[in-house]
Amino acid sequence: VTERLYELGKRFARFATDMVVARPRLWRLFRGPLRKQFDWIAAGWEEGRSPEHGAVVEAALARLDSEPRRLLDLGTGTGIAARLLADRYPAAEVVGVDLSREMIEEARKRVPDSLRDRIRFEVADASALPFGDGEFDLVVLLNMIPFFDELARVTASGGAIVFASSYGAETPIYVPPATIKEKLGRLGFTEFDEVAAGEGTSFIAARRAG
Ligand SMILES: C[S@@+](CC[C@H](N)C(=O)[O-])C[C@H]1O[C@@H](n2cnc3c(N)ncnc32)[C@H](O)[C@@H]1O
Repeated sequence: VTERLYELGKRFARFATDMVVARPRLWRLFRGPLRKQFDWIAAGWEEGRSPEHGAVVEAALARLDSEPRRLLDLGTGTGIAARLLADRYPAAEVVGVDLSREMIEEARKRVPDSLRDRIRFEVADASALPFGDGEFDLVVLLNMIPFFDELARVTASGGAIVFASSYGAETPIYVPPATIKEKLGRLGFTEFDEVAAGEGTSFIAARRAG
């Protein structure tokens, strides 16, 4: 029964992603059920991930030439990408945001003491973020539904966004590169790149400084 519920959950996540990317205003219909779904699986989430879960984020970071200082991990879950970012950039401040309070509680428990002063986690909705314009040099979404207007608003001039999918196009929450490019191309992003690692893929969108 649990297997079947997980399968249904994955299908629901893909359906919600497709609908919300096509019509962001539909998010208000999906927010409640998705939050419940992720609250429900938060305690077992990280143990269910493979050790390579974040490898596709690492591969994308290797393509960036600047050293970002203010980082946002959107839909952070238990904070896998947030910890990876703080490890990789020792001078950076990292914020992890998630809609699910249970996920955020798990994320807070998993921060090692060595990173505690540079990572913080907040419950917030990526469709209406509690941050100022251009506050982040790098925004990472690992298996997370994108809200393009908000992404463009909080990303600094000269900043970048990484859209990482642990299982490429098979990931339940997945948006094809052509769609991302089309949406962000209209919002001032001009440089795009793609990278693969294991079963995962990342799409990188950057905005020129100035
Ligand atoms: C598939 S999980 C990925 C978690 C983590 N990034 C990882 O890969 O391990 C998607 C996460 O995004 C969160 N999420 C979905 N929609 C969100 C939104 N609008 N704002 C913030 N978080 C959201 C969910 O609660 C869930 O924790």
